[in-house]
Amino acid sequence: MSKSPVMSNWHPATWQNKPATQQPKYRDPVALERAVAALGRLPPLVVSWEVESLRAELAKAQRGEQFLLQGGDCAESFEDCQSDYIAKRLKVLLQMSLVMLQGLKRPIIRVGRFAGQYAKPRSADTETRDGVTLPTYRGDNVNRPGFTAAEREPDPQLLLRGYERASLTLNFVRALVDGGFADLHHPEYWDLAFLRHAPLREAYQAIVDSIAESLEFFESMSGQRVHAAARAEFYTSHEGLHLLSEQAQTRYIERQKKWYNLSTHMPWIGMRTAQLDGAHVEYFRGIANPIGVKVGAGMSAEWLQELVEALNPQNQPGRLTLIHRFGAKEIEQRLPDMVDAVRATGSQVLWVCDPMHGNTETTAGGVKTRRFDNILAEVEAAFRIHEECGSMLGGVHVELTGEDVTECVGGARGLTEADLARAYRSQVDPRLNAEQSLELAMMIARRAGARRGHP
Ligand code: PEP
Ligand code: CO
Repeated sequence: MSKSPVMSNWHPATWQNKPATQQPKYRDPVALERAVAALGRLPPLVVSWEVESLRAELAKAQRGEQFLLQGGDCAESFEDCQSDYIAKRLKVLLQMSLVMLQGLKRPIIRVGRFAGQYAKPRSADTETRDGVTLPTYRGDNVNRPGFTAAEREPDPQLLLRGYERASLTLNFVRALVDGGFADLHHPEYWDLAFLRHAPLREAYQAIVDSIAESLEFFESMSGQRVHAAARAEFYTSHEGLHLLSEQAQTRYIERQKKWYNLSTHMPWIGMRTAQLDGAHVEYFRGIANPIGVKVGAGMSAEWLQELVEALNPQNQPGRLTLIHRFGAKEIEQRLPDMVDAVRATGSQVLWVCDPMHGNTETTAGGVKTRRFDNILAEVEAAFRIHEECGSMLGGVHVELTGEDVTECVGGARGLTEADLARAYRSQVDPRLNAEQSLELAMMIARRAGARRGHP
């Protein structure tokens, strides 16, 4: 008998009776079982009241009172679990949120794609180079990117190494935030050395100054410090792909009478694992976290309706975020039907645009990239199409890094295909660098300002 009052036919392992795609094939089942059991004994990374507080904030975003910024690496790597890397990524997310807050005049919910984004879906199980075929790289939680049989062998111990790094990352993020790193009273902490493009730097500085001024004005009028604005909350998210490890960190919270995935605040279902009768949907339907679902060109309107029914049968506010990723070329054609289809279910959802995954292309030289113009165009189209359909874009989901990488072409500094060779570090998808990320945030802010008649 299940302990959940709402879901009598679910427990954290019922997904095992369904077809599970994208799971690695481990050679040693005993070692796997031991690693998963160890993971199940370790303390949770997040707690249920934080998860509930994010759900409440997402419910506000559904009502148009807040806006979601979800971003981070396509795949975190164990090697990048370093103080400087983590701090820079946090900084760029904070800077984006500040710019967006000023433009949208709505609080920004900050959700990192970090502290657990270590498992990746892949389009093929194997990779062949010069006649040699090996398992594909599935993220640092599973195997290693190097092209040798040893590095590509799935290793269950990596699940524990991933848990540890997620925990170290989250610990550092929490300490930075608690220590005032994100304090709006000290925007001078938020150094802009990476902003080489002068007009962008000036525009950003103007925004920081105007926020500081408003804060000062409000505080002198009210005689109080603005605490809510002074401390930026940060939530975590990752794709809930590797089901054994997600299951191991799923706990029943007696006080809430619900099951939670306590490895992250907001797990999401990727495009490749959203099959209605599949194991991922089965697992996700039973956890109480707010969840995301990627919605791409391969999904029909009926499929999406059935997902909405399966994943949010109680129509609970804040529960379901639909992250569409059609690409600049297809969004026009595909999004309106999806919005209509979801409206017909009567469910309230949060619509978010991921302008990255529908805009991936390969250069003539064989390098995976994304054009900044397409990314901007998709976000712009998303705002407009939702408005035209009587709906609302409630957030963006981006792949970014705080490093000065050259993985996406375009942006204020006009990165070209020739630049990609200079600082291309991603093992998987190309990310926006810090400067491009801030430029995207400025476009969102400008667009909002223009709609209110303040260009
Ligand atoms: C991702 O977010 O990295 C990803 C693989 O996205 P999608 O499932 O939308 O393809
Ligand atoms: Co990606």
